[in-house]
Amino acid sequence: MKIVFATHNKNKLKEVQSMLSDSITLLSLDTIECFDEIPETAETLEGNAILKANYITEKYGYDCFADDTGLEVEALDGAPGVYSARYAGQENDANANVQKLLRAMHGYTDRNAQFRTVIALNLKGKLYLFEGVCKGEIIKNPQGENGFGYDSIFKPEGFDRSFAEMSLTEKNKISHRALAIDKLVRFLSKTS
Ligand code: IMP
Repeated sequence: MKIVFATHNKNKLKEVQSMLSDSITLLSLDTIECFDEIPETAETLEGNAILKANYITEKYGYDCFADDTGLEVEALDGAPGVYSARYAGQENDANANVQKLLRAMHGYTDRNAQFRTVIALNLKGKLYLFEGVCKGEIIKNPQGENGFGYDSIFKPEGFDRSFAEMSLTEKNKISHRALAIDKLVRFLSKTS
């Protein structure tokens, strides 16, 4: 079975391929020569994941899955959420995003937050959704050098270190993305 993972990110692709049996071949956007700016104009993670998966299925005819992730902060009514990448502006500047979030949370004692990943899968004419959640809290000062995005200010529940102080292997055991991917892989392994 051939299936497109709607990403240009080679690391994400490798990670998912390594979890799948040999009967499933993952194709990237580069492999199918899709260099379009796929619209991510929905107001929810679910909506964006579906938009991306549908774009590929409709234009190229492949079965496809796409992911979208956001950091949802309780005290900010779920912000930055679907706007996490461009919270402080269009250019996905991680440092500016982190600083803006720390300013927005100034004075709040409730620092609960969660990362949430949604994967939308189009398979044989049907749509399936998979979700992975990692709960934790926003710490007051960035800690650690690893990872990306908001990792330095997110401390997962049950740990005394931020994501940025964990190795990738450690983070991948508990992360939102890993949990969602695990659900997708189990599903694909059953159906292929
Ligand atoms: P994407 O949907 O995977 O592109 O994620 C959207 C945005 O959410 C990223 O640009 C990051 O700002 C943030 N984000 C997603 N996953 C993570 C993570 O594992 N750690 C920190 N930030 C993340």
